[in-house]
Amino acid sequence: MGKKIGVGLLGLGTVGTGVANIIHNPEGRHPLITEVELVRVAVRDLAKPRGTNIPKKLLTQDPQSVVDDPSVEVVVEVMGGIEPARSLILRAIAAGKSVVTANKAVIAHHGQEIAAAADAAKVYVLIEAAVGGGIPIIEPLKQSLGGNKIKKVSGIVNGTTNYILSRMTEEGVNYVDVLKEAQELGYAEADPAADVEGLDAADKISILSGLAFGGPIDREGVPTQGITNLSSRDIEYANELGYSVKLLAVAEKLHQEFKAASSFPLAVWVQPTLIPEKHPLAGVNGVNNAILIEGDPIGEVMFFGPGAGAGPTASAVVADLLNIAGVKTIGHQADKLDPLLAATSWRNCQLVEPNKIVQKHYLRLQAEDTPGVIGQIGRVFGDHNVSIQSIIQFDSTEAGAEIVVITHEVTQGQFNSSLASIEEMKVIQRLSAHMICI
Ligand code: NAP
Ligand code: HSE
Repeated sequence: MGKKIGVGLLGLGTVGTGVANIIHNPEGRHPLITEVELVRVAVRDLAKPRGTNIPKKLLTQDPQSVVDDPSVEVVVEVMGGIEPARSLILRAIAAGKSVVTANKAVIAHHGQEIAAAADAAKVYVLIEAAVGGGIPIIEPLKQSLGGNKIKKVSGIVNGTTNYILSRMTEEGVNYVDVLKEAQELGYAEADPAADVEGLDAADKISILSGLAFGGPIDREGVPTQGITNLSSRDIEYANELGYSVKLLAVAEKLHQEFKAASSFPLAVWVQPTLIPEKHPLAGVNGVNNAILIEGDPIGEVMFFGPGAGAGPTASAVVADLLNIAGVKTIGHQADKLDPLLAATSWRNCQLVEPNKIVQKHYLRLQAEDTPGVIGQIGRVFGDHNVSIQSIIQFDSTEAGAEIVVITHEVTQGQFNSSLASIEEMKVIQRLSAHMICI
């Protein structure tokens, strides 16, 4: 082969360093890696020590100059955030350069604009690293599972929160202390609120939903609850009841409304969830992620592996770079894209109203420890047609009784109206925590 493919790297942090280390150490990997060369790298701070041997002359603080550099054929965006990442990606596309990005926030919020620009310019924007860290999930959804009608995608898609919940389960530690560790290990986002408040998981399930069901959804409309209100108590109680607690992201086709609706109705949400101990997602611990796909005719298939960190994420970025290198090797046709790599939308999807989503709920309440309190709570739920699977008093002190309720499946609307009435009961002191059960 002749000239190497010039890569411009935007960002040399956790992921960028991992990518550079793979490109600079090609031995034992796919030979196409040797066709790729890092030619420019943008960072914020030139003086920062780097965990990779990048010649200093390649570094710049001006990311636009990387995108504009004629020797850069492919731009790898691993700087994070919405801006300037979005503008730089669009600039690269406008210049006819393919882009690889690990940035789920920019894709979940501006994916349609970026995809339209890429389609017009006939370049690729590949995002394998944006969901599931090192797990190959984007390419399987675009290609290997294309013969299926997908019914449901559910998964643990945030490594930081799974690491925190696992440590809380195993050691009963406080989440704030473990979050610090997750940051040191390079798992957390620059602003870790995105992890613990469920926003990163909502970005990822929006992306997965778009690929699985063939059309983008409104990212802002995804009901999202993080793990910040959970305590070790909830995990203990869940374990005693035979469940694990995970931050679960779900995108599901609604069967009943499918035929009548003009667009494809989807229920999509991110919530802390009680998962029965024998369920395949219950044993996914630490920084690992797992995505369970239900399709027709495949049935259930689960993708499992490290969901964050330098090496795993860089593995996914390099996989995308190899795809682009492969296309270039056989001679990219200026007016055509491989439809299985480009993955354009083919259906109009729409989120259902959150109040119509049907789920089982877990509720932890603090109540007065008086005779008949459990009966009173049961009656109020009954008045709202919410049927209860179990109601248990876990702890009783002078301060009151701690009661955990698990409902049968009800609509979110029904559950919320019963909550409003429960909150008004004289015997109720506090609604302490809420989760979903599967
Ligand atoms: P990071 O460690 O904070 O690295 C960000 C890099 O971008 C740093 O090198 C920083 O420069 C550079 N940078 C940021 N803003 C810049 C600007 N305006 N101009 C020039 N350089 C700039 O972040 P990361 O963990 O590698 O994550 C990068 C992206 O990958 C994010 O979108 C993230 O969501 C995604 N991602 C991360 C992981 C993970 O496990 N960490 C996994 C999957 C996806 P300095 O080094 O000089 O500060
Ligand atoms: N902060 C993200 C996580 C990085 O913890 O999952 C991987 O996308």
